[in-house]
Amino acid sequence: MDQKQDHANTILTQLESAETLNSLEVAKSLSINHQDLVGCLLQLESANYIKTEGLKQDQLILTDEGNTILNSQSGEYEIYQKVPEAGISMVDLQKVFGIEQVPKVKQEQGEKKEKQVEDPKKRQFDQGFGNAKKMGYIKMDKGVITKVANDLPDKIKLELQSFNTIKLGSQQAKLLVERKLAMISTIKYFEIKKGFKYAPKFREQFAALTTEQLLSGEWKECEYKSINLNAEGEKISMGNLHPLLKVRKQFSQILIGLGFEEMPTNQFVESSFWNFDALFQPQKHPARDAHDTFFCSDPELSEEVDTTLRDKVKSMHQTGGVGSIGYQYEWSHEESRKNILRTHTTAVSSKMLYRIAQQYKEKGYFPKKYFSIDKVFRNETLDATHLAEFHQIEGVVIDKNASLGQLMGIIREFFRQIGINKLWFKPTYNPYTEPSMEIYGYHPVLKKKVEIGNSGVFRPEMLAPLGFPEDVNVIAWGLGLERPTMIYYDIRDIRTMVGPEVKVETVRSNAFCVFESK
Ligand code: PHE
Repeated sequence: MDQKQDHANTILTQLESAETLNSLEVAKSLSINHQDLVGCLLQLESANYIKTEGLKQDQLILTDEGNTILNSQSGEYEIYQKVPEAGISMVDLQKVFGIEQVPKVKQEQGEKKEKQVEDPKKRQFDQGFGNAKKMGYIKMDKGVITKVANDLPDKIKLELQSFNTIKLGSQQAKLLVERKLAMISTIKYFEIKKGFKYAPKFREQFAALTTEQLLSGEWKECEYKSINLNAEGEKISMGNLHPLLKVRKQFSQILIGLGFEEMPTNQFVESSFWNFDALFQPQKHPARDAHDTFFCSDPELSEEVDTTLRDKVKSMHQTGGVGSIGYQYEWSHEESRKNILRTHTTAVSSKMLYRIAQQYKEKGYFPKKYFSIDKVFRNETLDATHLAEFHQIEGVVIDKNASLGQLMGIIREFFRQIGINKLWFKPTYNPYTEPSMEIYGYHPVLKKKVEIGNSGVFRPEMLAPLGFPEDVNVIAWGLGLERPTMIYYDIRDIRTMVGPEVKVETVRSNAFCVFESK
């Protein structure tokens, strides 16, 4: 049996006759370190052989100086012993202690006084000398130091020899603390009582039942540890969602909760037709030029769209319709076929709206709510808040009764669910919506008003060529994914959210859910 088991059994035997045990005394009786006993107590307690209660106690312990005196003698006694019976002068006594006399040099005026380094021997001597006088070992008369009496004992050393009997709080203890020979330290210990499975002898508990124990029949005699249902278990290392994906997931859940269906967004390369032309965005629009849009070189042009659709879009741009005069310019077919990386998710919406209008021809009108969340691309200069690729979230509501009021209502509800309650709408311009509104929100984290989105009612000039009946309205709004993610996860630089800058540890430890609606 190992020593730990021996100790365990000793504790259990001691408990047999005692109501409670003090771990400090047990450690003393076992002649082991208190800290080593703690391990043993834990084992016994987890097997419910004992119950412990952690307690604190102030204790008087010897300081290093106290220990030195205990092992040799006190400073005052050393001085007492070195004083000859005939008496001695101070200078000579110091010599006996090997203290060199530093002659006092007269100082010239203006001469810098050299700082004298204090001799530790001298300090010790002075202290011992003072105490020797105070304690009545020696006296000084007309410059001669003599012993007060012969054969005096080293009182302090004697006191320290019976240190264990000195009570905390006694006058004696106070004096020792004052002389820095002892100090008070708080120690932690345990009060030990019998546990509900107490037995005078400890039997090792097994963590698991083994095949060997079953085969040999040994299991009948064995004791087993009970299952700890509160054990945390090992942390499983697994993949974690990137902050953008977490926020994206939450946004899509909110939108699904509001009855929106997700549109397919799996196409980064889009034709200018769906990204711009179908959105009644004129071909001379500055956003189309090479500063903002990434054009593709191979294949440079996209496949043809349906020619009827193309012609309707063309004539809407050139001469207008549905009460509009259009843009009055020569629409270029080739320009509309240029392949680009989509610059906004509204390209996805325009394609979807066309599909819905086609379905209306067969099935007749039905209302519909769609959303998309995916990547878009713009040829931006990269900095802490801009990337050339980012994500947009877009919501589209197709409804005969859709109105500006309804759009504002949906937007309010959507933002309420991500914890933004105060909203402001500001008129703005988009080629494809009229009226158009920028959305501002009071940001609870930033504590200020920030632009959070854009929205509007799709223009008849956009909807009519796609084949929408005149009485069907479409309202929509869009916002970026990066900004709310940065705010809620306290990410200062957008560039740390992509590529090798992403810190895996941060991704792991980030909260799964960040939005809280009120
Ligand atoms: N497409 C707009 C943008 O890129 C957002 C928007 C979506 C505006 C839908 C109105 C309607 O900012």
